[in-house]
Amino acid sequence: MQQINSFEAYIKAYQDSVENPEQFWSAVANNFHWTKPWETSLEWNFTEPNIKWFAGGETNLSYNCLDRHLATKANHTAIIFEPNNPDEKVRKLTYQELYIEVCKFANVLQSLGVKKGDRVCIYMPMVPEGAIAMLACARIGAIHSVVFAGFSATSLADRINDSACKILITADAVYRGDKLVALKNIADEALENCPSIEHCIIYNNRNETVNIVPNRDLWWHDQMNIISAENLSVPMDAEAPLFILYTSGSTGKPKGVLHTTGGYMIYVGYTFLNVFNYRDEEIFWCTADIGWVTGHSYLIYGPLLNGATTIMFEGVPNYPNAGRFWEMVDKHQVNIFYTAPTAIRALEACGTQWFEGKNLSSLRVLGSVGEPINEEAWQWYYNNVGHSNCPIVDTWWQTETGGILISPIAGVTPLKPAFATLPLPGVQPVLMDTEGNEIEGNDVEGNLCIKFPWPGMSRSLYGDHERFRQTYYNTYQNYYFTGDGARRDAEGYYRITGRVDDVINVSGHRIGTGEVEDAINGHASVVESAVVGYQHDIKGQGIFAFVIITQHEENLVQQIKDIVSKIIGPFARPEKIIIVPGLPKTRSGKIMRRILRKIAEGDVSNLGDTSTLLDPGVVEEIKRLAGL
Ligand code: WT7
Repeated sequence: MQQINSFEAYIKAYQDSVENPEQFWSAVANNFHWTKPWETSLEWNFTEPNIKWFAGGETNLSYNCLDRHLATKANHTAIIFEPNNPDEKVRKLTYQELYIEVCKFANVLQSLGVKKGDRVCIYMPMVPEGAIAMLACARIGAIHSVVFAGFSATSLADRINDSACKILITADAVYRGDKLVALKNIADEALENCPSIEHCIIYNNRNETVNIVPNRDLWWHDQMNIISAENLSVPMDAEAPLFILYTSGSTGKPKGVLHTTGGYMIYVGYTFLNVFNYRDEEIFWCTADIGWVTGHSYLIYGPLLNGATTIMFEGVPNYPNAGRFWEMVDKHQVNIFYTAPTAIRALEACGTQWFEGKNLSSLRVLGSVGEPINEEAWQWYYNNVGHSNCPIVDTWWQTETGGILISPIAGVTPLKPAFATLPLPGVQPVLMDTEGNEIEGNDVEGNLCIKFPWPGMSRSLYGDHERFRQTYYNTYQNYYFTGDGARRDAEGYYRITGRVDDVINVSGHRIGTGEVEDAINGHASVVESAVVGYQHDIKGQGIFAFVIITQHEENLVQQIKDIVSKIIGPFARPEKIIIVPGLPKTRSGKIMRRILRKIAEGDVSNLGDTSTLLDPGVVEEIKRLAGL
């Protein structure tokens, strides 16, 4: 595949991609293996919306990640697995070995009756078997739905039920730092309410004792021992669903973002190669979990499509100490390192002594993803991790976009700290004003929309196309609305300012305020609650909950935090809770979150227009309770 290697080449590629998008992406698609050529490269409208790339074509993502490389790279390392405990053994899988495992697991799934279009839920730790399960699904056309292993039993059950998954793949347990998470126990609790599940396949990760439900539960190793490695690779329609990934929005239950095969494949393959300027033989490490889209696109699919070596790390950045990342960079001679600002800020707070004795000279490119990176953290990352000679690619994208949309191209795009810089080829961002008009020119700010399709974009929400339309294509007619605000500076560079809806980004985890409120309201003593985000030095944003209760009881605040962990997952625990007598509502009953956000930020100097408040006294009372 052609790589962009100069700024002039980027400008040229960008122009081509806007003037002749179909030609541009067809040329990219031709670098992949298709079992049947496509008939039309693009059909689209943003009204229904209906988006089809390479319709009529047939391909297989798993084949493109594995088989395609076997002639030249069979003995090349595909995955390096670094266990949570640094004293345990590193595992390396070559492309040949990974291929065999994936073929076998595809046969296991088929032997259990999994067919094209069936849904398979993957609730796994960061071990190669998680990747093997994903690739095996893609191989036979089963739609995978990976659920982050930090989610609770309730969240897991909701996700399984929303898409009626047939199989659940999980592990006995996993250590994250020194904490043991008993995944199978959580899965058992979830499965009490999941009638569609026929089998639960358990990967023995820690030799922990688990409960086995006869007929339903099967061990991964038992199944793999009796199965053949016959090569099943089912040709898939370019627009066949590939995976579902649940994500949070402003309102309602999580949305099952749906991605399809051909467009997603070529988009992540192309953007991996170009954004990171990946070079043959390099070691790539993305610290994201496979439970999030970054893990799908840039830990598994993007690197494997390019024949790269990708690192899967089971543990956490601060175990056994805050030098773990740097020790791993040195140990595995990592060339490209991709992480989240929250991890950078947390490690920055631990001090530079953790770099001592670690050689980071293998690093060539650094990446950032998941939330805005503040200039201070950018500089620290650039100077201390990158020794002032590695470009930082600040990659802006979303679960819905499938791959990176706005980002520097490493070594090519002139950098500007805290700016995602310029759109990648094929991406046409615009800023909108409140009237729904495009804001022209530079040095402006508005709501970020995209006005032309790109191959990696989501096609629907699983089982609810109308919600898809309403969420993304209704705010602005004929535009995809991202939910983010952005500034375009005098040079035309983009800086993402954050969400403009009721989504909070806590340590790069996307959480809907409504979801947290629902969880809190589930407590017997809670009448009503309102949740907002506030600026947090390490996590980017923290969760602040204002709660009305029926009666005071001991440990209530603690209990409310616990119920959120229990219903959503520990990562969604509110940082701060205050018990309030009422909430600031308008006469029509709408909560004025703007006021609560100001209070949560501790800045009540200017609360704006409060004339529509039903009872302005409530605001004074909340301010007093918040100590302001
Ligand atoms: C939201 C999407 C992208 C994969 C991981 C998160 C925020 C993401 C950046 C960035 C500023 C960013 C946006 C976006 N975001 N990357 N480089 N700079 N903000 O995927 O969970 O779907 O969250 O994360 O607000 O809308 P996600």
